[in-house]
Amino acid sequence: MTPKDKPEQLRSFRWFGPATMRGFGHRSRMKQLGYRQEDFVGKPVIAIVNTWSEINPCHAHLRERAEAVKRGVWQAGGFPVEIPAFSITETYMKPSPMLYRNLLAMDTEEALRSLPVDGAVLMGGCDKTTPGLLMGAISMNLPAVFLPAGPMLRGNWNGQPLGSGTDIWKFWAERCAGTITDQEWNGMEEGIARSPGFCMTMGTASTMASLAEALGMSLPGASSIPAPDSNHVRMAMNCGERIVQMVWEDLTPVDLLTMDAFENAITVDMAIGGSTNAIIHLVALAGRCGLKLELPAFDRISRRTPMLANIRPSGAFLMEDFYYAGGLRALMAQIEDLLHLDCRTVNGRTLGENIAGARLIQPDVIRPRGNPVAASGGTAVLYGNLAPDGAVIKPTAADPRLLRHTGPAIVFRNYQDLEARLDRDDLEVNEDSVLVLQNAGPLGGPGMPEWGMLPLPKKLLQKGVRDMVRISDARMSGTSYGTCVLHVSPESYSGGPLALVRDGDRISLDVESRKLELLVSGEELSRRRAEWTAPPPTAARGYLSLYAERVTQAHLGCDFDFLRDNPGSTDPEIH
Ligand code: FES
Repeated sequence: MTPKDKPEQLRSFRWFGPATMRGFGHRSRMKQLGYRQEDFVGKPVIAIVNTWSEINPCHAHLRERAEAVKRGVWQAGGFPVEIPAFSITETYMKPSPMLYRNLLAMDTEEALRSLPVDGAVLMGGCDKTTPGLLMGAISMNLPAVFLPAGPMLRGNWNGQPLGSGTDIWKFWAERCAGTITDQEWNGMEEGIARSPGFCMTMGTASTMASLAEALGMSLPGASSIPAPDSNHVRMAMNCGERIVQMVWEDLTPVDLLTMDAFENAITVDMAIGGSTNAIIHLVALAGRCGLKLELPAFDRISRRTPMLANIRPSGAFLMEDFYYAGGLRALMAQIEDLLHLDCRTVNGRTLGENIAGARLIQPDVIRPRGNPVAASGGTAVLYGNLAPDGAVIKPTAADPRLLRHTGPAIVFRNYQDLEARLDRDDLEVNEDSVLVLQNAGPLGGPGMPEWGMLPLPKKLLQKGVRDMVRISDARMSGTSYGTCVLHVSPESYSGGPLALVRDGDRISLDVESRKLELLVSGEELSRRRAEWTAPPPTAARGYLSLYAERVTQAHLGCDFDFLRDNPGSTDPEIH
């Protein structure tokens, strides 16, 4: 941190200040945009990095919010410029939006690096957007505030609250079982998404917004405000005002994102029953800071952290309720003894100062310490001969009966194979079977699609079965639930042990002892390994081939190997 007090010290002054031919060009083009010299020369230039897109309903309000940010920037004596960034829309982007998180990170880093800006407000919220923006901002390491898009309002169907994803998975199973009519199903389609904003269950979006705040990258309380709430507009304005001050203070992401800050984020992740995807994203974010965050840290913190947020899919309520109950500040106040309260945050104060006095208003939505939703955290990390580098499971979203289970494998080579055979009458499956999906990892998917909540065979649904053990190297939507072992690493596509599983092999899952074992002799596995041949490449050209060449495995965060470490990208030369 090198605080600044003179306009000439601003990064943007390198573009706008010099009495050179290039300086002339830079100033004249701002004047072409209708600005006066005194508007932008010697003022903190703030990039409002906006992931708005007409096909991203989670970010539908972000153009309006950018105007509120601009008001704050102007009032604080800065100069705002809105810059579009790659918009990752979870619903529509195929084969997996996860493929594009690293692209958004590169887009963000390079936009900030190449343009005359001094600081950034990062606007987004749909699942991969939050980590993507933060990863890019860390690597560039200019002062930055994350502005969460906010959760949408509760869904509503016949007066019954509906939660994004979670309730659709649930009612789809009922529909497959024949207990839901067409009319009822259509009614849900009309009522599930009623406003701008991201999924309002504790899915990946709500999780990552909460973790950005816990990391100290958002203003206190920001992550819980529903997108359409007027408080969200005022929070956006506050982001604009604060980032100008941060530029003068030279308060950058790397100043805030210490290992203690990451431990705070993991603790909050466990207390909110956050999405399993958060593990991959936090590992990647830490990697951008040059910090080595490993899976055992998640398990260690999970064991000591009670889950307090009673939010679907692991609880009963929705994010709108969470906000009215006191929001993330109230939750963090309940676990303050488990947090590093001296971590600094974007508002210049410590986490402890930010949560001081936070009131818990509805103790059924945010549980007090004495009455947790679950005694320990929402995520467990498993190891064993099936996952030498780890796998994860969300026990709070699983049927407790299955957390210790041994059963015969039914193996699907890829998702097409699953779709083709799952509902066939001759599939020899029962409720004790373990469904295994191969080739759905970072390379095999590619992009580790959210296929990890494998659908259950229709004939078992019709018999009333609602959960089974499922294992894959895929991810799972944060809104999903079930006994799903995910992120098996190394992945099957690259020859990990998951590739060697065959129909009928017995697999043992024991969440309490954190074990995932394929009960096949080492000799037999060696024989199968010798017979194994690598599948064909999933990409021949373009971005996907870069992805295939340089992406890391799940336990390393699925970042590109060449983007980790060394935060603080070099500034460009100006000639
Ligand atoms: Fe955007 Fe769920 S689709 S957060």
